Amino acid sequence: MDLLINNIEQAIVDTKKQLKTNLPELKGIFQDLEKYIKQEVSQIEDLAREGKPVIPEINYETIENEKVDETIIVSIKNRGCAVIRSVFPKSQVEEWNDELVEYITANGYYEQCQGKAHLDQYFSTLQSGKPQVFGIYWSRPQMLARQDERMAKTKAWLNNLWGTKDNGSLGIDPDRECTYADRIRRREPGDNTFGLSPHTDAGSIERWIDKEYQKVYRHVFSGNWRDYDPFDVKYRTEISEIPSPAVSHVFRTFQGWTALTEQGPNDGTLKLIPIVRNIVYTLYRALLDDVPENSLCGASPGRALDTNPEWHDLPLRALVSIPLLYPGDTIWWHPDLTHAVEGHHAGNNFSNVMYIGASPLCKKNSDYLKIQGERFLSGESAPDFSAEDYEINYNGRATLDDLTDLGKKQMGFMPW
Ligand SMILES: [Fe+2]
Repeated sequence: MDLLINNIEQAIVDTKKQLKTNLPELKGIFQDLEKYIKQEVSQIEDLAREGKPVIPEINYETIENEKVDETIIVSIKNRGCAVIRSVFPKSQVEEWNDELVEYITANGYYEQCQGKAHLDQYFSTLQSGKPQVFGIYWSRPQMLARQDERMAKTKAWLNNLWGTKDNGSLGIDPDRECTYADRIRRREPGDNTFGLSPHTDAGSIERWIDKEYQKVYRHVFSGNWRDYDPFDVKYRTEISEIPSPAVSHVFRTFQGWTALTEQGPNDGTLKLIPIVRNIVYTLYRALLDDVPENSLCGASPGRALDTNPEWHDLPLRALVSIPLLYPGDTIWWHPDLTHAVEGHHAGNNFSNVMYIGASPLCKKNSDYLKIQGERFLSGESAPDFSAEDYEINYNGRATLDDLTDLGKKQMGFMPW
């Protein structure tokens, strides 16, 4: 749903006033939170210094065999991210990667994209500029990866990490998925123009202003941040977004991507602040007295939510690159998690990914499927993204015939 506000600045001033009134003890509460964040940051710094893994890792087979260790689940729920390895066999992914290259080059993508880049405003204020992503949504490899049974199991497992303390219904069906068509990244060795500075998706000022988001963070805004459960799904599917190209209108339990090529630290890969409760720091920080009354520490409408050195220097110390991934490995991160893309690709090979997140069946997501389904059939860009519409006349674009029954259900073309 769209969140329409006439006077954004006034809305920020009013909301901050209201939230601060409810938090008379904020200074002390923030100090308590800061202590917690400091501990997490130090732990991550120590691990990184010793060259030990920071991001929890599991192998797809442990999901398949229902053998995931409980301590790993605790760790994923604390860090808010996970590497899941070998979701796809290497040979399969290499075939897809080759087909994607062919799809892009033979259809003349590079020539057509000149002059269309301005359509995407979402990242324009991030210091490193626009990422090296392609407005490609409907290639066969993307559709095949999205509807793959192994991918479906992976997503269901991730969705099931979410729950609610209330006895009421979840509002999502964690075992059924709505396909969310996203883009691909193909990053050239040596590239230093397409990094992304640290940010969070799924809402910027909405996290303070939107009434449903205020309910998601109800324990935070009442001062009881330790009661806040980042994996409580309640109200998450009810939030509204300020309309803007590239702002997601679906609920994702995890954002994610699948590696198409081998890529590690310094290959222009993803970085994360793997502290899922760091969002509490962001929320409180903007309400402290040293922040101007019309400011949310750099959060602006219709943009990615900024994490910046001026206001968030403590958590930024925990920004780490994800480990070396091989073709077919996947990385997943919670929608509250701050992430970035390395500024420079110092490696020797293309670092390519397909963005595939987890978006379970719920009303919000199935509403989106209705519009997305039409775009799939016509070859236009997916509805959440700028209308570049490269693929309308592309040879090799996926059609209904490429979809399995599972794929059709996930796209809303067939009932579950
Ligand atoms: Fe992002």
